[in-house]
Amino acid sequence: MDHQKTLSPHVLMFPLPLQGPVNSMLKLAELLCLADFHVTFLNTNHIQNRLSRYTDIESRFSGYPKFRFETVSDGLSDDSPRSADRFIEMFLSMEAVTFPLVTEMVASGPLSCNSERPVTCIIADGILSFAVDVGIEVGIPIIYFETISPCALWTYLCIPKLTETGQFPFKGDDLDAKLTCVPGMEGFLRQRDLPSFCRASELIDSTIQLQLVLKQVQKFPKAQGLILNTFEELEGHLLSHISTVCPNLYAIGPIHAHLKARLSLSPKLKPKHSLSNSLWEEDKSCMAWLDAQPKKSVIYFSVGSNTVITRDQLMEFWHGLVNSGKRFLWVRRPESVSGGESMKGQIPAELLEGTKERGCIVGWAPQEEVLGHPAIGGFLTHNGWNSTLESITEGVPMIGWPHFVDQQVNSRFVGEVWKVGLDMKDTCDRVIIEKMVRELMDERKGEFEESAKHLSKLARESVGEGGSSYCNLERLIEDIGSWSL
Ligand code: UDX
Repeated sequence: MDHQKTLSPHVLMFPLPLQGPVNSMLKLAELLCLADFHVTFLNTNHIQNRLSRYTDIESRFSGYPKFRFETVSDGLSDDSPRSADRFIEMFLSMEAVTFPLVTEMVASGPLSCNSERPVTCIIADGILSFAVDVGIEVGIPIIYFETISPCALWTYLCIPKLTETGQFPFKGDDLDAKLTCVPGMEGFLRQRDLPSFCRASELIDSTIQLQLVLKQVQKFPKAQGLILNTFEELEGHLLSHISTVCPNLYAIGPIHAHLKARLSLSPKLKPKHSLSNSLWEEDKSCMAWLDAQPKKSVIYFSVGSNTVITRDQLMEFWHGLVNSGKRFLWVRRPESVSGGESMKGQIPAELLEGTKERGCIVGWAPQEEVLGHPAIGGFLTHNGWNSTLESITEGVPMIGWPHFVDQQVNSRFVGEVWKVGLDMKDTCDRVIIEKMVRELMDERKGEFEESAKHLSKLARESVGEGGSSYCNLERLIEDIGSWSL
């Protein structure tokens, strides 16, 4: 009997160890489990420990007998900070320690062709460009999963052209200057809308990040395919541009909605547990608070899993939210304020009073549930790609306050292209925050709600049976299956 023919697909999945990428990669893993694939999900020890502490993930995945977690070191000590401003440090440590370990696991270790269950395909985060070399070395297909937005990815792919035409690096300080050589974005893409590492920054070493991104995009054509967390109806025009570099695209998003849709197709599979992949403890008390608020009256504010704001920015947001007169639900992740939040005796009484009357503050929220709650009328967001897609799916208009990587591009698309909100980038001023909250929740409410409702409908249709993302996932499953023979 031909041994090769008896192999069933076994996918090794390796996410970037950050909340957003881990969240969407785990959802993709569950979609592949539903297709009866063997899946090995490789987390860094740090991420696995946090998932075990704050979710019931192990018992959830125990329902899939062909799924297992594996762990690997990220090379940092247990108490090293792993926030966005330390990203480069973490990445360099992974390059030195983790990547050789993973290569060994796949080439000659427990996941190799000599093992009981050889890996037949690798799915790695797009930034983990070393994965293609591993795939080539051991002769198995590699598919990248780009967990940032395709609109930002297309700007990455255009950096060589921007450089060739002298539009990058920027000359002069005019961040409002329009860029003319990013096909599909002519007319509205400004210097300030390019990914954060295109600008000099005190926070992150932009040069190293830029090099990483350029290395990443050079490797793309060597992969067998590229999975994108988007849907054709949202970014179809850009997908055709991206496919000139990576012809085999699988747009299967919004992945969180796709998983829910697939689970609901079979009553037997309906989740008994929450689908949370949170790396912090969710404070569900905010759901009861939301239940007591009128329909579409609350603005939800979160800057995601990595962003760290200054105390001055904290005060601007706080004043802006309270002065808007709107109700607000604010996620203040532990350690999200540089220098700590403690400002004993310095908080004005009217701010505390306004918060008590109209606000709810939690350390970490069950965000997907929050965005789906009828009391939510708007989202003040850092425009991380998962947050943006979750808001689009629920039809919630946004105010974008981007921090880094793809978020600058995303917030421009929210305001200019999809017209589902306002772009507040590069400013943090209480008067502007107050004005924009009112604009989103009152003055232009109808206009934004209408576009948001339309996009939400398209998103849901795309993941429903026969929809574009549904069909693309079927094709991905078929392709991985055929490569495993
Ligand atoms: C990172 C990058 O910073 C971002 O640019 C990229 O687009 C994705 O990865 P992150 O801060 O993790 O961003 O943001 P996002 O992609 O929005 O993911 C955050 C996830 O955490 C979302 O799925 C959201 O639902 C969840 N979340 C956030 C919670 O569950 N509770 C919260 O209180 C806040």
